[in-house]
Amino acid sequence: MIRATLIVLALVLALGACGDKTGQPNRPDTKAPDTASGVAAFETVRAVLQHPRCQNCHPAGDAPLQGDEGRVHQMNVLRGPEGRGMAGAECTTCHGPANPSSNYGLKIPPGVSEGWHMPKPEEKLVFVGVAPRALCEQVKDPARNGGKDMAALRKHLDTPLVLWGWSPGFGRAPVSTPYKTFIDAWELWAQAGTPCPE
Ligand code: HEC
Ligand code: HEC
Repeated sequence: MIRATLIVLALVLALGACGDKTGQPNRPDTKAPDTASGVAAFETVRAVLQHPRCQNCHPAGDAPLQGDEGRVHQMNVLRGPEGRGMAGAECTTCHGPANPSSNYGLKIPPGVSEGWHMPKPEEKLVFVGVAPRALCEQVKDPARNGGKDMAALRKHLDTPLVLWGWSPGFGRAPVSTPYKTFIDAWELWAQAGTPCPE
């Protein structure tokens, strides 16, 4: 019995060692991308962050924005103490758990499953009107991005509020960069060590 166990153990160890050798192939494409390609990839990321579908919830002021021209949100809607609107005018009063069907026509409030809201007043995460270098430094800075490291930021990109940018509801143009192009660029930027443009 002990002998059988030892044989099994030896086999497991041998297989393990074997796996170690072949598990890390020396493919040329596994080395980190250089700074220039990282900076170029960030430009793709920047164009998405500053697309109207994204930056309308990331304004410098306390009112969200609307439309491709980024006009101030109608009906005096404001961020409020938690980013969820003011008492009696919470975002979710009008923005439901999903985009209403196209039968309702144009100019209908879009919605997402996690509850529509914008960043909190103490962490505004401003995308509107920020120069590329400043935006780059802000996005990766945990002191200004809501305490997120690169892994947490990457996860955030799979959440309903971000994905909404590619299915924004009837009559609204989705983010012009395809989602996969955005994620590939984000990951390349991360692998290059998140370099920022000059
Ligand atoms: C409905 C409002 C809303 C929309 C639309 C929106 N966001 Fe955000 N975003 C937020 C909120 C709120 C946070 C703060 C984290 C949270 O509460 O989920 C946030 C945080 C972020 C962050 C992390 C913080 C940072 O500065 O790094 C990123 C990145 C981000 N959003 C990207 C996007 C992208 C890309 C889009 C468009 C595809 C988008 N957002 C559209 C509300 C929005
Ligand atoms: C009284 C109803 C109402 C409330 C409250 C409200 N919204 Fe809206 N919202 C709308 C309507 C209606 C539209 C669609 C307008 C259009 O398409 O022209 C809209 C559109 C938007 C858009 C535009 C999407 C785009 O890219 O064009 C954003 C962003 C937005 N709201 C954010 C918010 C946030 C954040 C809150 C809470 C702080 C909020 N809204 C509260 C009615 C409301």
